[in-house]
Amino acid sequence: MRHLISPLDFSVEELADLLSLAQDIEVNPEKYAHSCVGKKLATLFYESSTRTRLSHEAAMLNLGGSIMGFSSADASSAVKGESVSDTIQTVSCYADICAMRHPKEGAATVACQKSTIPVINAGDGGHQHPTQTLTDLLTIQNLKGRLTSLTIGLCGDLKFGRTVHSLIAALVRYTGIRFVFISPDELKVPEYVRHEYIEKYNIPYEEVIRLEEAMPKLDILYMTRVQKERFFNEEDYVRMKDFYILNKEKMKLAKEDMFVLHPLPRVNEIAIEVDSDPRAAYFKQVQYGVYVRMALILTLLEISV
Ligand code: CP
Repeated sequence: MRHLISPLDFSVEELADLLSLAQDIEVNPEKYAHSCVGKKLATLFYESSTRTRLSHEAAMLNLGGSIMGFSSADASSAVKGESVSDTIQTVSCYADICAMRHPKEGAATVACQKSTIPVINAGDGGHQHPTQTLTDLLTIQNLKGRLTSLTIGLCGDLKFGRTVHSLIAALVRYTGIRFVFISPDELKVPEYVRHEYIEKYNIPYEEVIRLEEAMPKLDILYMTRVQKERFFNEEDYVRMKDFYILNKEKMKLAKEDMFVLHPLPRVNEIAIEVDSDPRAAYFKQVQYGVYVRMALILTLLEISV
């Protein structure tokens, strides 16, 4: 039985198969419409979500399966003190596969040790968000036609943004990747990410504070919001929250074929006026998230169509 806890749980070859399955699902949705009849997905969300929970649910429903779950810790027996281990052993009796989001780093790893069904990590604290990474990879593959030879700018909260950590971990395995990290000093990429991924794979990178300086070099700009929920005090968050605002003026500095991605939710970091730019790809990215999660469910349940 397989789980998805980190993007590195799939080899580059397995990722290529998964993305190719997602592309086929996009083109031939009817072919997959009954492939999970009789199967149940449980969504165990101890932390709030719009996209990740609903896209997993949409994915299972599109495959003909059923869904169950809770959308906050308050709506589960976690409020009575139940552990993640006991909850997953219980849910294993009800469902065939589950997606779990938890505010604590490592929670999904704890769950998969006791689970008898595949566990999908739908975000664990500031650590990893592997299904967002699958979404990001499919988006880049579809828009640029490749996952190699790209200069990728990551902008905003690179310290607490788990989508950034997972995307870096996945991309270092492709050739010709360069990173431009765009953040204030307080929100730089954590040391463990630098050490385990960037330095280990000898990935060229630069760090800049000004977004304007990076814009002309980029093939992809990955914007992120400042992660309010991970700050220890309100004052630091308020100081950082509007540090970057991508607007039409800044978009003029970018290449014609550069695309803007964002895992969403957006707060202020991308002005609404950018949405009409053909290079704004963040809502396409949301749609790709459904196809890739359909592919993931089929893969983890070992269902071939
Ligand atoms: N991208 C993402 O994880 O969004 P949600 O928090 O809405 O799930």
